Amino acid sequence: ELEGLQDRYGRVATDLRLSLTDKCNLRCTYCMPAEGLPWLAKDAVLTAEEIVRLVRIGVRDLGVRELRLTGGEPLVRADVVEIVAALRAEHPELPIALTTNGVGLDRKAEALKAAGLTRLNVSLDTLHPEAFAELTRRPVLDRVLAGIEAADAAGLGPIKVNAVLMPGVNDADAPELLAWCLERGYELRFIEQMPLDADHGWTRNGMITAAEIRDLLGTRFRLTPDPRARDGAPAERFEVRALPAGQDVSGDASGGGGDDGTGAAGAEQAGPVLGTVGIIASVTEPFCADCRRTRITAEGKVMSCLFSHEETDLRPLLRSGAPDADVAARWQDAMWAKPKAHGMDHTGLGAADFVQPDRTMSAIGG
Ligand code: GTP
Ligand code: 5AD
Ligand code: SF4
Repeated sequence: ELEGLQDRYGRVATDLRLSLTDKCNLRCTYCMPAEGLPWLAKDAVLTAEEIVRLVRIGVRDLGVRELRLTGGEPLVRADVVEIVAALRAEHPELPIALTTNGVGLDRKAEALKAAGLTRLNVSLDTLHPEAFAELTRRPVLDRVLAGIEAADAAGLGPIKVNAVLMPGVNDADAPELLAWCLERGYELRFIEQMPLDADHGWTRNGMITAAEIRDLLGTRFRLTPDPRARDGAPAERFEVRALPAGQDVSGDASGGGGDDGTGAAGAEQAGPVLGTVGIIASVTEPFCADCRRTRITAEGKVMSCLFSHEETDLRPLLRSGAPDADVAARWQDAMWAKPKAHGMDHTGLGAADFVQPDRTMSAIGG
């Protein structure tokens, strides 16, 4: 008899990531093709009532303790505020977070806060309008910046900002983006690009690794490991200080004079901690062994892992009058089969048998 969302390797999923829609209003090159994807039919997508029921089953029966709403872009769903309000009404204490690209957030931030949203992560890869437009294929940087500001003003912080670096497009902007986030008190996390793009354009040599990200940031900042426990979080956190005077080598391709930017030596003379930065090294330093996530796609399929090839459809049960216990049991079975690890390793697409899943990030839900 299974208890909660255990898997055969001893992990227990307590963190539910639920996608509200597969649609998106951006076309980030590392996620979607320029022309978009064939969207799910309207009646294929879970209704607000079905979402509320799944979260009820997760929280009441299966040990879910944290919820994250994702997409596609969750804010394109017209009833997103109502969904948050309905979830909050049933779960007064549940942390409910949302991951958004920030478009339209300026108009929805206050309503989301009032509906009971706890906090928010926004994707922002660069502060340069041309690079932003090249990466997302939409020239809407200003709207995203307005959205982040509105969310912060509405009390949806501490805001986390997610950035993916693409070589030759926005990698050089990394220190500037960090400075901008530090000034505003946002927690920036850099995510290694994963092979979840529609064009299957990901290559091991074309992605920027965590080590390279630390080097890039090291031209302007000194990073030291954050003493706080990581506790299963995907991001490895670093405390950020300014480099001591005279050591700022930003723009200097020769790098940080042999210092990898992460050493503890000299931390004191480097001055006060300006904030923290996270690096999510899914490819080169996988954290699968500590994974606590269970995912449900917009059409009601359980994915035990971002890279799992198996999907377990809960929608037929939801729509055939099956009791909650049957839905819970099917969800548990899906999680029991969670793969041990994604199989990419730092040498490339990793294990020879690694196969990129058919679904893109947008169709899984970050
Ligand atoms: P908080 O730290 O609680 O705010 O949540 P989070 O970091 O999980 O949220 P977010 O949606 O911002 O996720 C950041 C990124 O981490 C995701 O977009 C993924 O790129 C990556 N990530 C999240 N979960 C997984 C996972 O299970 N496996 C891998 N490989 N990457 C993940
Ligand atoms: N690799 C890594 N991160 C990705 N995201 C989207 N596609 C990828 C990918 N291929 C990120 C977005 C967003 C989060 C939900 O997932 O930038 O911050
Ligand atoms: Fe970009 Fe997110 Fe939309 Fe994908 S789902 S295109 S990563 S904004």
